[in-house]
Amino acid sequence: LASIDVDVSGVEPGTQLTVKWLGKPVFIRRRTEEDIAEARTVELSDLPDPLAENANIPGDAPALDENRALPGFDDGDAQTGEWLVMIGVCTHLGCVPLNEAGDFGGWFCPCHGSHYDKSGRIRRGPAPTNLPVPVASFTDEFTIKLG
Ligand code: FES
Repeated sequence: LASIDVDVSGVEPGTQLTVKWLGKPVFIRRRTEEDIAEARTVELSDLPDPLAENANIPGDAPALDENRALPGFDDGDAQTGEWLVMIGVCTHLGCVPLNEAGDFGGWFCPCHGSHYDKSGRIRRGPAPTNLPVPVASFTDEFTIKLG
């Protein structure tokens, strides 16, 4: 897998950086405390796809927001949840979802109407699974390595 380093020092809370990696858009969202709190109050039973879909953890991990956010460089076990990194390709038929849109305040795919929440989890519409979290990690405070 080809790795790239992404400088996220300019990404303000409440905004998103989109980069291209392996021919696909990758969304790097720096979430606000409100975003995180909202994502963490959702019941697992409300999620069409109950799996975290996170390549960095076991495949059977549940779709808790804590299992989708990327640990920060010096988070330790704190799990602040500030950073969310996902492949920006709708899991229905591959359109690119729009940011800060849809009924759940996360992403909305305009092609056939899939709504994703602030954790990138599918909540309504034809997409079968959550937006996948790729292999990623912080290598210093503001550098994310993809792959
Ligand atoms: Fe996104 Fe169909 S491709 S809803």
